[in-house]
Amino acid sequence: MLQGKKIVLGVTGGIAVYKVVDLASRLRKAGCEVKVIMTAHAQEFVAPLTFKEISGNKVAVSMWDANAEYNVEHIALANWADMFLVAPATANILAKLSWGIADDLLSTALLATTAPVLVCPAMNSNMYLAPATQENLKRLKERGVLVLPPAVGQLACGTSGPGRLPEPPQIVAAIEAFFAKKDGDLRALKILVTAGGTREPIDPVRFVGNRSSGKMGYAIAQVAAQRGADVLLITGPCALPVPANVQVQRVETTQEMLTACLSAYPKTDVVIKAAAVADFKPREVAPQKIKKKGDEGLTVVMDKNPDILAELGRRKERQILIGFAAETQDLLANAREKLTKKNLDLIVANDVTAAGAGFNSDTNIVKFLYPDGRVESLEKMAKQEVARRLLDAALILKQNKC
Ligand SMILES: Cc1cc2nc3c(=O)[nH]c(=O)nc-3n(C[C@H](O)[C@H](O)[C@H](O)COP(=O)(O)O)c2cc1C
Repeated sequence: MLQGKKIVLGVTGGIAVYKVVDLASRLRKAGCEVKVIMTAHAQEFVAPLTFKEISGNKVAVSMWDANAEYNVEHIALANWADMFLVAPATANILAKLSWGIADDLLSTALLATTAPVLVCPAMNSNMYLAPATQENLKRLKERGVLVLPPAVGQLACGTSGPGRLPEPPQIVAAIEAFFAKKDGDLRALKILVTAGGTREPIDPVRFVGNRSSGKMGYAIAQVAAQRGADVLLITGPCALPVPANVQVQRVETTQEMLTACLSAYPKTDVVIKAAAVADFKPREVAPQKIKKKGDEGLTVVMDKNPDILAELGRRKERQILIGFAAETQDLLANAREKLTKKNLDLIVANDVTAAGAGFNSDTNIVKFLYPDGRVESLEKMAKQEVARRLLDAALILKQNKC
């Protein structure tokens, strides 16, 4: 999403400047071209040379630089940018931007640009909460300036409260979210993804589960968010990090996943059910840990769980409904039966016994089956790439249904 984006990074005189060196590096690695403007006070914290080496571009520090890259540098940079990012944004630059003061290169370029502006305030809590700063931020937001709120925590001045610069990955995620919502091909869609395996309790310490790692569902959620969709990830317990710009709802049992899915369903355009839900659950859940009794074994009677996909299929109106068939035998026949019985628009069939496919693997080998009998066989590929291809298919299905 950030490939080729031109970012002017305005660096002002706050203690968090050191973190912004890492931010500049991350932006460059994400494919952005980064040009840095430093205020005079920012240079008290970090030398322009550091940002020059990290950004790969000359750092602009003054309007009166005889060796400046451009003729009228503040205008040239203002026009060049796809986005102006100010990090850290001092109370001072927020005040200047809010009142239109243009007394140095950064504040003048900010006034001259028509590019979107994202500011990341970072300062002592009292400075941040001061009515003047809050009024300035309110005015900037009303004017369309994007404000990434500071984190709450320990501050360099020894106090604790709001004012910390968010960590660089969070700032990159905010920029990605902005461009995804602006340019992403899925930006109009609300997508519900389920992932991971559910757990059915036997007693307070034991459960019946399965081998699902959640990797496929998390990859779909991540790629969908990168392409601008509003993504709700309903996930069973799993250790994977939640992808950036994805709303997450954690559940444990199949019944909880059903309840969560049904509540989100009416407002959803596309559902991709990649979770491996437990088909059965213990009839009784012991209130206390079941103790061993001599040589006796344990018989657990299992009842059928509700069928989430079938229920969503029954209630389907304008939604596109996509399921997964993780099979160990008769892959195509089983998948086709599930596709028809559950009223799906597409089913992703994968033989979980094949090398490089299924649970826990970083790759998958899948076939897309459609109700009209079409079968699209994909070769072995990374789960991210399967996600991309699946979302391409979902978009076409949605467009055809509209
Ligand atoms: C050690 C030190 C740390 C500072 N940290 C911050 C800060 O985190 N946030 C802030 O708004 N101002 C901070 N200041 C005050 C600003 O540097 C000061 O308001 C300055 O005028 C900002 O100029 P600029 O916005 O042009 O860079 C700090 C000052 C010093 C001496």
